[in-house]
Amino acid sequence: MSTHIIKENDLIFLILDEKRRWLVQVKSGGNFHTHKGIIEFDDVIGKKFGSVLFSRPFETQGYKFYVLKPLPSDYILHMTRKTQIIYPEDAGLILLYTGIGPGSIVIEAGCGSGALTCILGNFVRPKGHIYSYDIREKSLKRAKLNVKRAKLDDFVSIQYGDILNDDLKLENVDAVVLDMATPWNAIKKVLNYLKFSGTLGSFSPTIEQVKKTVSAMKINGFIEVNTYELIKRRIQVKENATRPEVRMIGHTGYLTFGRKLDNIENPYRERKPKVNEFISLDNMPLRG
Ligand SMILES: C[S@@+](CC[C@H](N)C(=O)[O-])C[C@H]1O[C@@H](n2cnc3c(N)ncnc32)[C@H](O)[C@@H]1O
Repeated sequence: MSTHIIKENDLIFLILDEKRRWLVQVKSGGNFHTHKGIIEFDDVIGKKFGSVLFSRPFETQGYKFYVLKPLPSDYILHMTRKTQIIYPEDAGLILLYTGIGPGSIVIEAGCGSGALTCILGNFVRPKGHIYSYDIREKSLKRAKLNVKRAKLDDFVSIQYGDILNDDLKLENVDAVVLDMATPWNAIKKVLNYLKFSGTLGSFSPTIEQVKKTVSAMKINGFIEVNTYELIKRRIQVKENATRPEVRMIGHTGYLTFGRKLDNIENPYRERKPKVNEFISLDNMPLRG
């Protein structure tokens, strides 16, 4: 059973209410200032995850805060970030459709703020590894910080690398995950790194990117190429007013997946030319 007692350097998910919630690292002797009082970390260390505590000074503030163990979705939504990040629902589908799990060896580009990197790192434990690359020094710095705070350094390497032009010197990896502006230009290189049956997952916000990526994947022999979009709706549950919340994130992005195959021509059956579907509009009855 993992320890449930909060220790020095642990990350806690501190909740005041629906809107005010923070991912905080506890340091003995330190504190966290909110406009509803101060949280002294010495009041937190030694407590159980799942406890409550009160802001100081008790006489003038004394607000109740909940202290939870952060979930992967909390890392994503509350970590320091500057780039567009992957949302929890998309990260969930990436995990299931790439098959990334304990022991997987994965290439990721770009790491951005490291939100998806932390999710992937969390799931490849205890023996897998995420090799994550970016071309922007600021992204690399932020992602390294977020990975360190999540205590995932042993399972994640963040390094400078251009997935389009560099030789990453990796082979037989289980999965490659792309979240970058021009994924279609990376497809040919990605093939060299993947093992047969390995998976590629690519996240793109626009259909134009998806069309180019899918086309590049098909040209390069990927099979099982599929694109999905997820829309998550949070439900407001109130007596006599239970319905989807009015405000929501209407679009995150599209997810494209495919598998690498060791393909050869079929020597037993002749390839028949494809018959193009043609719909003639001649003589079609029109409404007057
Ligand atoms: C949208 S961000 C990724 C966000 C990340 N998935 C997250 O959850 O925080 C895209 C990143 O791709 C990086 N990038 C763009 N082209 C790249 C390339 N050729 N090789 C590696 N990284 C690249 C950018 O610098 C940027 O940081």
